[in-house]
Parts: sequence; C-alpha cells; structure tokens
Amino acid sequence: MDNFVIPECTFSERSKQLTNSAIRRILKVTESPKTISFAGGLPAPKGFPVTVIQSAFNKVLSQNGYTALQYSPTEGYYPLREWIANEASQFCNCSIKPEQILIVSGSQQALDLLSKIFIDHGSNILIENPSYIGALQSFNLYKPNYIPLPTDNDGLISDSITPDLAKICRFLYVLPNFQNPTGQTLNFYRRVHLVKLSEQFQFPIIEDDPYGDLRFIGTPQPTLFSLSNKYGGNIIHLGSFSKILAPGLRLGYILASKHVIDKLVQAKQATDLHTSTLTQMAVYEILKTGFIKKHLTNIRQIYREQSISMINTMEKKFPKEVSWTRPEGGMFLWVTLPTQINSTKLLKKAIEKNVVFVPGEFFYSEKSLTNTLRLSFSTVPEEKILEGISILGKLLDEY
Ligand SMILES: Cc1ncc(COP(=O)(O)O)c(C=O)c1O
Repeated sequence: MDNFVIPECTFSERSKQLTNSAIRRILKVTESPKTISFAGGLPAPKGFPVTVIQSAFNKVLSQNGYTALQYSPTEGYYPLREWIANEASQFCNCSIKPEQILIVSGSQQALDLLSKIFIDHGSNILIENPSYIGALQSFNLYKPNYIPLPTDNDGLISDSITPDLAKICRFLYVLPNFQNPTGQTLNFYRRVHLVKLSEQFQFPIIEDDPYGDLRFIGTPQPTLFSLSNKYGGNIIHLGSFSKILAPGLRLGYILASKHVIDKLVQAKQATDLHTSTLTQMAVYEILKTGFIKKHLTNIRQIYREQSISMINTMEKKFPKEVSWTRPEGGMFLWVTLPTQINSTKLLKKAIEKNVVFVPGEFFYSEKSLTNTLRLSFSTVPEEKILEGISILGKLLDEY
C-alpha cells in the first residue's frame, strides 16, 4: 500500500502551489558530520534550557495533569495570554488585554492563519524583497499578487509605498528586527512612517518579530505595534518562543486588535482546535519565574560571539569586492558578491568542500539577484566558522 500513486488530477488546484522548501533540500546535504553548515536557520542547541523545560513539564503533569492533557480554548491558556499581554503592555507603555492575544503553534502557523483570512487569488500584498521563505510558502497557497519593495541597510524603504500601492494592498508583511534573510533592522523613522501609512490608508501591517529579543549590539527599537499606540494604524504583531526557548515546543502568539483576533480564532478552530495545552502550561511555568531574562543574556552572548567571529574572518578571508550586512542581533547575515558570480553555482563548489549556505535567489518573490547569499552563524562553533569561511574565501578568490 505504501507505493500507491494518486493521479495528479485528484490533488486540488491549491496543492499545486505547494513546493519543498529550498532550505530543507539544502539541509539534507548537511546530514554528514563533516559538513560545515551556514545554511539552516536553527537556533543554537546549546541555548536550549533542557533541564528547566523538563522540570516545568514534570511540575505541570504532577500538579495539574488532568487539565494539561485535556482539550482547551482555541484562544490559548489564559495565564499565558495574560503574561504576554503584561510584557507587551510594559514594552508599549500602554494597556494590552489578554483578549488581544491568540496563542499559536509557532509563528509559522500565524502566517498560515493570516493567509487564510486575508488573501484571495490575486490579492495585492506588499513584501520586502528579499523576504522570509516560509512566509512566501504560506502566502503562495492563496495565489496573491506580490508587490516586492526595495530594502537597504536600514530595512524596508518605506517611501517606496506610494499612495497608489497603499490603497490597493491587503497588507504589508515586514520583519523589522534582524530580518530573515538579510539581518537588517528597520530604522526608527521608517517604523513611524509605516505605522502612519497604515493609519492613513487603513491597511494592516503584519509585523513578524521572532528575533527581536536576540539583540546583541545597539539600542532596541520600538515595535510597530507599540508605535501604533501613538500613531494609530492596524498592526498585527507575531511573536515566538522558538528562538528564545526552543523551536520544538512549537509555541508562538499573535497580538492584534480584538476584531482581527476573533477572525483568526475561527480560522484556528478549523485548523487544529488549539495549541498543545500541556506545552502552554509548561512554558507559562517557566515564564512566571522570570527565568527568561537571565536566559536571554546567555543566548545573546552565544550569537554575539559567533557573529563577531564570522565577520572578523570574512574581513580577513573574503576578497574586497564582496560586501555583507552587519546584523545587530538575530542569526543571519547577507552577502553580496560581484554581479558575475552566481551563488547557486558557488554552492555546488562549496558542497564539494563540505560547506553549505543558502543562495539568495530563493528569498525573492520575483526578479531574484543571483549574486547574493545568506549565512547563518547560529549553530556553528567558532573554530568551524573560521574553517568554513576560509574555504568560502578561497573559492571566491578562485572566481
Ligand atoms: C521570520 C520568521 N518568521 C517565522 C518563523 C517561524 O517560526 P516559528 O518556529 O515560531 O514557527 C521563522 C523561523 O525561522 C522566521 O525566520
């Protein structure tokens, strides 16, 4: 039975938009222990607080096992929503209610639910160019019309959103902190500008922010959601516990107006009823102790050291015609090669030398630049960064 093949026509039209992630295909090559992988966007396992998570699960099961193993409300575990609302209220200096929070199974699920409620075939959506591949995968299913917007070292160029574009778009999708894939951060003035545009032209902005807590240099910027307290606008903020605790927990949240949350709750009901009750209760146990503040200091330090070591080695080993971004947090940096070098071809040569990265072309919805690539410094120890970057430097010299 396991080799039963279904005729192509049995699959829905929509399913034809489904593709395997390019990154996952590349990650398959990295299964050999010899490979030095700058490709994955995985958090550093040495930052996973395994014993703390273990005791939280034990405590919940021993003290509240019957509730933790039962179905629970779609909106999420109330004390967890309250905790998130309190934290966000302190950050915004405003009052956010737990009713404005929907708990989701990772922010990837948030992207899927938002696609369901906002995108029709041909809907115009504004995105940064390049953008997060997983969001494009979610949006693609609903066949939107992408309007890619330019970015520079200060993030999305907000002036590129003309009144004509603002009037026709369903939403703008933006990653203001340490963007995936470029590592760039949106500057303060553009943040305010975007929020004002959202208010003036009444379009929602999806602010995807899984990396915001991973700032290891510089001053934290206000979220678009917090700025909307002063400037209005309709901001839908996505948060995640994947990068600050562990991605295997599959836990994230959406912070938005009650009106949007109510619609999303209906979409989530149809998708998976609710996020794991046990996981929500265990994570709440961890958060309420205040552990996360100390833990964040540790993981920021890991990423800070690894990013410095990558940049220092690139400065020594890469030819001077190559440039790259200097992220103040997160897990990635973005490299621009001379225009004649195709990064997908470079990858083939790099794989022969047991080094992998993600070619930039996969992150564009259209008109991709073939001379760009993403390097992740999150999971590679410093001595391997030195070795892998030196190998890439040699290959670039040969070009
Ligand atoms: C920009 C961005 N959004 C969302 C996600 C999905 O995160 P989660 O694990 O919360 O589903 C990722 C994962 O890497 C990401 O980089």
